[in-house]
Amino acid sequence: SLSLKGSREVFMIYFDSAATSYYRPESVALAVAEAVRHMGNSSRGLHGASLDASRTIYEVREKLGNMFGCGTSQIVFTSNVTESLNTVLCGLLRPGDHAVTTVLEHNSVLRPLYRLEQQGVELSAAGCDALGNVSAQDIESLFQKNTRAVVCTHASNLTGNLTDIREIGRLAHERGILMIVDGAQTAGVFPVDLVKDHVDVFCFTGHKSLLGPQGTGGMAVRQGLLIAPLKTGGSGIKTFDRGQPEQMPERLEAGTLNGHGIAGLGAGIDYIRSQGMEKLRQKEQCLADMFYKGVREIPGVTLYGDFTKEERAPIVSLNIKEMRSGEVSCWLTEEYGICTRSGGHCAPLMHEAFGTKEQGMVRFSFSSFNTREQTEKAVEAVREIAES
Ligand code: ALA
Repeated sequence: SLSLKGSREVFMIYFDSAATSYYRPESVALAVAEAVRHMGNSSRGLHGASLDASRTIYEVREKLGNMFGCGTSQIVFTSNVTESLNTVLCGLLRPGDHAVTTVLEHNSVLRPLYRLEQQGVELSAAGCDALGNVSAQDIESLFQKNTRAVVCTHASNLTGNLTDIREIGRLAHERGILMIVDGAQTAGVFPVDLVKDHVDVFCFTGHKSLLGPQGTGGMAVRQGLLIAPLKTGGSGIKTFDRGQPEQMPERLEAGTLNGHGIAGLGAGIDYIRSQGMEKLRQKEQCLADMFYKGVREIPGVTLYGDFTKEERAPIVSLNIKEMRSGEVSCWLTEEYGICTRSGGHCAPLMHEAFGTKEQGMVRFSFSSFNTREQTEKAVEAVREIAES
């Protein structure tokens, strides 16, 4: 039988929610179990089990459409934000196009772009200041005649710094440039509205702050924007057409959806709505601030990011003296049961900017399910390691 001993049986404090949520409302697990037991294949039959699946998926689509300010059919489900980014980048950029990105990006943005670069897409990346901030003006200064899209994270997964997507999107739209946002760290934390924020495609994952299961994610696509599909295949409609249907969302959703996971994602969104996204965010931010204030005075601790900003993703990354981040992270888990992420965090250009390619960083990321007591323990653990 499947054993999760390692994480279940030892005392554990989880500060790795930027990688994936670990603490989730029980309703998410129950919704997945219920779907596994009873769900048919959505849009593939007229019997009750299939209709139940269609209904459940439609309702989750609707919730996401409400969350991101777009119509229900403009929500596309994918398996994660990486698939969303690959779909949108490969579906919109052609040889001869120019794309602008930033050094804040995760490899889920950079690697698809590097591959497109080999196929003839031109690429520029805006740099950051000493605190890891990218300015809208720096991005704008890279615009060229053939710039087709800006591809930009909403928050660095390493520092938690936000980018001003509304201003960047406004500047891009003034020039007829598409604005594509990687919302991996912000979906379910900060409100995003495609129209007000001048965003053409907002890519999200389900398993982080939306509290859904792994294997869920998607994108919110501005009405009227046609993205060439990455995958083609069964759609449940227009079976006799040789091509993928034009209509959204089927255009970008070939194959059976992860209906079981999407049911869980719906329960995660319900939880967020019942508690209030802003209330949950305030709690996470409060814990992250408390941790930051606790560790910043400890001799030997170096922090990365802009902590002067009132709004940031609930992430605090640090190093202790010259210690390798992996060593600190192992120490934290073995001696204190504290889970963090170390190393490069799939964000190579951020580490180049901070000069931490070799050392990496130890990232503490916070969830509204964490407590003040856990946070105090984390501060004390960092103090003890730094004093050792
Ligand atoms: N992108 C995830 C992280 O930052 C996995 O840890």
